[in-house]
Amino acid sequence: MQSTLFAEWKDITRETPYGAVAVKTEGRHFFVQRHGIPPLPPHRINYRGYIWALNALKVKEIIAVNSVGSLKPGLKPGSFVIPHDFLSFWDVPTFWDDEMKFTVPEMDEELRGRLSKACEDIGMERPASGIYVQTRGPRLETRAEVGVLKKMGDVVGMTMASEATLCIEAGIPYASICSVDNYCNGIVGRRLTMEEIGRTGLKSLGAIETLLKKLCEIK
Ligand code: HPA
Repeated sequence: MQSTLFAEWKDITRETPYGAVAVKTEGRHFFVQRHGIPPLPPHRINYRGYIWALNALKVKEIIAVNSVGSLKPGLKPGSFVIPHDFLSFWDVPTFWDDEMKFTVPEMDEELRGRLSKACEDIGMERPASGIYVQTRGPRLETRAEVGVLKKMGDVVGMTMASEATLCIEAGIPYASICSVDNYCNGIVGRRLTMEEIGRTGLKSLGAIETLLKKLCEIK
C-alpha cells in the first residue's frame, strides 16, 4: 500500500523465530507493511515473522488490505471484496513444522461482518463476498490458468490465503478488504497491463484510507 496514513506512527522491531520484523504502532493499533521496505515480491514475504510478531504483541484481530484481480465480469475493478473463503493449494505456510497439529480453516464471520458494516458506515458500496484464489507470483496468471481459476473462485491475489492460514493457526481473527484492481488476464477483451493495476489500486486508496481511519479511530 502506498499510503502515507501510517508515516507518523512509531517504528518498532520485533525479534521472531523467523527473523526481525518491522512494525508501526500508534496507541493500541499496529500496522505491518507486508512487503517490507524496499518491497519484496509476494513469494518472499515473511508471513510467519509478522504474524508471529503481531501475536506476540497480543493483537485481538487483524484487518488486511489485499490487491486482487477479478475472475468474474460482474465484479468490476474499483470494487471491493471481503472474501468468505480461500483456495491455495501451493506453498501453504505453517507455524507447525515440527508438531503434528492440524486446523479446519475458515474465515472469521464475525469480523467479516464488522468490516462490512464499517464499509457501509463510511458510504462504500457493500463489498461482495467471494472465494479468494492465491497464486504464487510474482508473474500474473496466464490466460489458460485464468480459464481454470475462474471455475474455482472470484478473485485472485498472491498474499491473503497465506496470512489467513497462519492467523487461523495462531488463533487471531482475520478478515481482508480486497481492492479489485483489474480483471484477471483474459477475463475481458482488452490486454491487461501492470499500469492498469497500479492506476486502479491508486484510485481505490482513498476509500481504503477512509476505512482504515474509521477502524483505527484516526481523526
Ligand atoms: N493476479 C494475481 N494477483 C493480483 C492480480 C491478478 O490479476 N491483481 C492484483 N493482484
